Amino acid sequence: MIKIAVLASGSGSNLQAIIDACKNKTIDGSVVLVISDKKDAYALKRAKDALIESIFIDPKSFPSKGLYETEVVKAIKKSGADLVCLAGYMKIVGDVMLSNYKGKTINIHPALLPSFPGLHAQKQAFDYGVKVSGATVHFVDEGCDTGPIIIQSCVKVFENDTEESLQKRILDEEHKIYPEAIRLFAEGKLKIEGKKVKIL
Ligand code: GRF
Repeated sequence: MIKIAVLASGSGSNLQAIIDACKNKTIDGSVVLVISDKKDAYALKRAKDALIESIFIDPKSFPSKGLYETEVVKAIKKSGADLVCLAGYMKIVGDVMLSNYKGKTINIHPALLPSFPGLHAQKQAFDYGVKVSGATVHFVDEGCDTGPIIIQSCVKVFENDTEESLQKRILDEEHKIYPEAIRLFAEGKLKIEGKKVKIL
């Protein structure tokens, strides 16, 4: 049974999908800790409602990113988590996190990487005029949304779409593929080989 720590900055709908997948046993595991860098993140409320330990760690109270991440790592270590899931976590992971959890940190991105990395990926794709977009779950490495890809899912972009309707369609896919990627990790089925992830 895998222990999962989730880092989230926003509404936490992906967190909710992960909690639900643990509850209904799609994932043989449980979310043991939720950390947010935003005091008012709705993700923290979702964690409380699910009786999961949740903490707000304020990056502004630390003189450097390294010291902030040291605190984050300390909390994750204490929770005993085997996997760290970034779910709408709006910070780029730095050296301290990576030196402790590389290969054990995954992220969800609302576009088909390597297209449209970074912020506002749905808007970037919509404005570009793509005919398909989607979501990507990947291991986290030193770059911004550059790590080895675990799962991707496509959605069509329709003529009458707005940025919002596209975002919603992508989010629905995120809620399917994130728990699926975690299930594969939990079952030991993911093997990183260079840039590629082999699904055993
Ligand atoms: C998702 O679209 C995720 O891909 C992106 O931020 C959004 C977070 O949504 N990184 P939520 O907080 O999980 O509802």
